[in-house]
Amino acid sequence: MKTFLAENKCKECHIRRVGGDGNSIYKPTGRINNAGALRGMVEYCNTELNLGFFPEDTNAVAAVLNLKHYKFR
Ligand code: HEC
Repeated sequence: MKTFLAENKCKECHIRRVGGDGNSIYKPTGRINNAGALRGMVEYCNTELNLGFFPEDTNAVAAVLNLKHYKFR
């Protein structure tokens, strides 16, 4: 549930940036090209947002994004 809440928080800001539903900010062909970089970006955005994620939350959100958008192995 926490990852769901977090995703919505994340969207608010991403939508301001890219419009639509915010999902188009997740670009598997962009700078983020492996699972480690994805996790790093989640960490970075989480710091901006001040969500106070624990490491396992960061991992969970990164895993969800990977599953839905990036599909790194
Ligand atoms: C304060 C605004 C803000 C918030 C809040 C925010 N982000 Fe971001 N996010 C950005 C910006 C800006 C970028 C970079 C967009 C660019 O340069 O193309 C970005 C990019 C990303 C990317 C990389 C997209 C790509 O493939 O290049 C990921 C992943 C990401 N954010 C995850 C998250 C997650 C997860 C959260 C919630 C925990 C979150 N963001 C919250 C502003 C935010």
